[in-house]
Amino acid sequence: MGKKFYITTPIYYVNARPHIGHAYTTIVCDTIARRQRMLGSDTFFLTGTDEHGQKIERAAQEAGKTPQQYADEIATEFRKLWQRMGISNDDFIRTTEERHKKRVQELFRRIRDNGYIYKGHYTGQYCFSDELYVDGAKPGDPCPLCGRPTETVEEENYFFKLSAFQDKLLELYANPDFVRPETRRNEVISFVRSGLRDLSISRSTFSWGIPVPDDPKHVIYVWLDALANYITAIGYGSTHAGAQAAFEKYWPADVHMIGKEIVRFHCVYWPAFLLAAGLPLPKAIVAHGWLLFEENKMSKSRGNIVRADSIIEVLGNDALRYFLLREVVFGQDGSFSFDALVQRYNADLANGLGNLASRTLTMIGRYFAGEIPTASPSAVDNSSGNAIAEAAQTVISEFSALFDQFQFSRALEVAWSLVGAVDKYIVENEPWSLGEKQDEASRARLAAVLYTSADAVRIVAALTHPVMPESTARIWAQLGLGDIRKFQLSTLQWGQLPGGIQLGKVEPVFPRADKSTIERMQQMENEGRAPAAAPVAEAQATSQPVPSPAEKLPAAASDGKITIDDFAKVDLRVGLIKVAEKVKGADKLLRLEVDIGAEVRQLVAGIAEAYAPETLVGRKVVIVANLAPRKLRGLESNGMIVAASLEGGKPVLASFLEDVPVGARLK
Ligand code: MSP
Repeated sequence: MGKKFYITTPIYYVNARPHIGHAYTTIVCDTIARRQRMLGSDTFFLTGTDEHGQKIERAAQEAGKTPQQYADEIATEFRKLWQRMGISNDDFIRTTEERHKKRVQELFRRIRDNGYIYKGHYTGQYCFSDELYVDGAKPGDPCPLCGRPTETVEEENYFFKLSAFQDKLLELYANPDFVRPETRRNEVISFVRSGLRDLSISRSTFSWGIPVPDDPKHVIYVWLDALANYITAIGYGSTHAGAQAAFEKYWPADVHMIGKEIVRFHCVYWPAFLLAAGLPLPKAIVAHGWLLFEENKMSKSRGNIVRADSIIEVLGNDALRYFLLREVVFGQDGSFSFDALVQRYNADLANGLGNLASRTLTMIGRYFAGEIPTASPSAVDNSSGNAIAEAAQTVISEFSALFDQFQFSRALEVAWSLVGAVDKYIVENEPWSLGEKQDEASRARLAAVLYTSADAVRIVAALTHPVMPESTARIWAQLGLGDIRKFQLSTLQWGQLPGGIQLGKVEPVFPRADKSTIERMQQMENEGRAPAAAPVAEAQATSQPVPSPAEKLPAAASDGKITIDDFAKVDLRVGLIKVAEKVKGADKLLRLEVDIGAEVRQLVAGIAEAYAPETLVGRKVVIVANLAPRKLRGLESNGMIVAASLEGGKPVLASFLEDVPVGARLK
């Protein structure tokens, strides 16, 4: 094994179900971890959930649950989503686990024994959303991070001597790699230069947290508890030799990946806690920007959330991964829209890499009986082919340099320049015309053209495997190269494709998406649909490449039309809403009782954000009456209400201008 590499995501609060903002951070880390594994590093990739503190306690209360029940449910959602998305984390830490609690207490003791903790009295402002003490603020002042009003907290607390670390922290920031990108580094430097006050690190007016050692009336400040996950998960404070060895091996972290809003906690508090405990510091803290939806940060409180489920079910995991890394300039904010996702998918994946791979492999199938032609010296001796070989070598080194500088979008752009160059090369060399000829020179040129294209496809697949693990594994297998995970990325160079090997089964990897793709994703979003259990994660664990869910798209060849018989299968009825009420704990869902003539049905519909329940009672709507029942939030839904889906997913219910009898069929 090569050098060790330890990378972490922030641990996610369990007051909100995962959305693609969370998925973004996790995907970025997963991609980096996968590349490191391909480079031979002994990699450890950690993620998890942040479950203590007043914010979670309050959210649980609102949901009518105990904090533990509430945390269990949401932590499970995160864990399951990462599995469905094929995220390759080596551990998933929950801050309510015993291993974490004990080790955090150990850290607290160590900092206290080193003389950096004292007891005092805190009166001041606190932001419950960010779990942040806001120094120097007056009652009612907004939180500097989120703008919400702060609340006054007055209690006996333990304090951490943060002020003692001002100079040491500034020395740390002199290293330009410690906080990245530069804008965040400057922000941190000016914050620390403006003066650091000691930090309250315990709370005594609620109990949902880890008790302070020897003084259990207090719980440890949730940010000290949460930040410590980066060391507790790998064995800090454990008495087991194995865990201690893991800590020795992996700490310090190579990269803490975070969103830009939590820079202060990671770049100021965390290094200060570690310095106080006498522990080594992480090598780099890297902050990315926000994923925006309709111009705003995607977040539960703004209600502008897009979940990963609909995207991965309709277009596949790799489409989402590629889109986020290619479209968002890392470090800056980036917008998400279904339109942009599908456009990128079609342009770069379906028409780009997918098309190049399938036409190259299909021609090898047709003209060389599915055997990679041998690139004899005479065969590759043509200048445009040599230009591709040179371009590929440059792409390998540029891609790697850009990727390792977190410039994923640029790196992918560079890789796709090779796809573009090979497309052009194929058009110029017309292999389909060469294939018609039988003379030796034409055969040799055909072999060179197809070998060149195939080797370029191989190189793009190898480079982008960390970004699109499933589809590149399939391309690799189609090239006859077996299991891509066995390939050592550091050895990648032009011309390694062995001539004479037999292709695997050639199938399209990125079928074209059509208009219905967006509609399907939006509809799933609107319905707040619980995803079907996708076998992606399990399939990935085997050596077989998995079929992409994108293959479930309507075949590009059929024009998407259905027959009248197909339509007649849908039983559309006029329904009268009798009862409408919110579903507890689900922002988008309403429970409806709808009279459809023959019976009154219970339906669960994702329309709560567009319609207040009281405005619906007595309204006539259109119901799909013969849908198989399914459960949403534990409630059986018997049918579906028909609505137009507007940009951003807002539903508008279908209705009638004339009066219609309840139960009438629409046809
Ligand atoms: N629990 C703290 C972190 C503790 S780490 C010791 C927390 N949790 S969070 O769930 O609110 O956010 C965690 C991370 O999720 C953010 O830092 C960011 O990486 C990611 N994102 C959440 N919403 C996001 C967007 N809209 N866009 C991009 N990333 C976002 O803060």
